[in-house]
Amino acid sequence: MDNPDNSPRVDAILKAKQSLPGALLPILHDIQDALGYIPPDAVPSIARALNLSRAEVHGVITYYHYFRQSPPGRHVVRVCRAEACQSVGCEALAAHVQGALACGFHATSADGLVTLEPVYCLGHCAVGPNIQIDETTLHARVTPEKFDQLLASLRSKP
Ligand code: FES
Repeated sequence: MDNPDNSPRVDAILKAKQSLPGALLPILHDIQDALGYIPPDAVPSIARALNLSRAEVHGVITYYHYFRQSPPGRHVVRVCRAEACQSVGCEALAAHVQGALACGFHATSADGLVTLEPVYCLGHCAVGPNIQIDETTLHARVTPEKFDQLLASLRSKP
């Protein structure tokens, strides 16, 4: 694996989940929750444990944009791009966010601070445009100015 320290954690997840019906997705979620991404070098172990081909495992990882194949930045910012947020300007916000971070969706800013991801509804459609930071904090009615303040706050954290 890229990082040999990942191997015991992946092995423990495989051991705990490999006998479940439809184990692949739960395993991939657990690995990403534990490591922040699915290390490409974990694919052979996953395939072996589930009696799948590497191509099958790789195909699932790449089909779902949720799964990352490289480590995320220090923070993950998700911009809602679903219909209700579209009706209140999320696309303009998305363009501003990409400009402020100088990176597109499914990418990480050059300073490693933020990985930017789209999300399709955060369940707070009445107060969009919405963004989520680090899966812990939801920010409603986000304007470009408000995003800039949030970004400045992330940059000021040690
Ligand atoms: S559409 Fe954005 S929170 Fe539901």
